[in-house]
Amino acid sequence: MSNTEFDRKPSDKAKTGAPLLACYDDLEASCAYGWSMLARGVKDRKSAFHTPSIATIAANGSPTMRTVVLRGCETDAKTLRFHTDRRSGKIAELQKNPLAAMHFYDAGAKIQLRLAVRLEMLSGDAFDAAWEATRPMSRECYQVTQSPGSVIENPAQVQFDAAASQDGEMHFVPVAAHVLRMEWLYLAARGHRRAMFDFENGTQNWLVP
Ligand SMILES: Cc1cc2nc3c(=O)[nH]c(=O)nc-3n(C[C@H](O)[C@H](O)[C@H](O)COP(=O)(O)O)c2cc1C
Repeated sequence: MSNTEFDRKPSDKAKTGAPLLACYDDLEASCAYGWSMLARGVKDRKSAFHTPSIATIAANGSPTMRTVVLRGCETDAKTLRFHTDRRSGKIAELQKNPLAAMHFYDAGAKIQLRLAVRLEMLSGDAFDAAWEATRPMSRECYQVTQSPGSVIENPAQVQFDAAASQDGEMHFVPVAAHVLRMEWLYLAARGHRRAMFDFENGTQNWLVP
């Protein structure tokens, strides 16, 4: 038996069902609701959308995934942002292929978003703004002297050097995720709702769940 409602038939009326969102049968409102959840994911550390998974393609052609913290959401520009170490594997991967996928699931809301994104390392004013907003505790991560993912014999060999890394700034990089498409999935006992929003083509369609 599954714990989710995904394998429940539409005819199985749930006795425990949460009240339906107003956007249930409204394509445009579903898209707006998805974006509102992304915006909340930035500000609300308890939101499930605060820590999405992002998948890139490794040099050998296989997908690789990791969790990141969602740091920015510009709804009008359809752009998200996360921060990372410019020496990390994901940066080498996005430099070869900037197309990536992001995954969000809020089990309470029963909403999954799958995003097709194009990644871009930010520089200039966008870099400065992101670095200035970074807290001292977060900066420490970027002060590690060895590249993230390097093989070491002993965890005690990991070293941090604030001065040599300009407080971590030289290793830090904000990354924009330009959202190309958003796939919405809303699980509901009355019948699931699935939709595709293509921001490149400006199209929106319901899909069979
Ligand atoms: C809750 C959580 C939040 C994380 N946030 C970030 C993040 O914002 N940026 C980041 O580079 N790595 C973050 N990580 C670590 C990554 O998941 C990953 O292990 C690391 O970045 C190395 O990935 P890569 O070798 O694929 O580049 C986080 C991990 C967890 C579990």
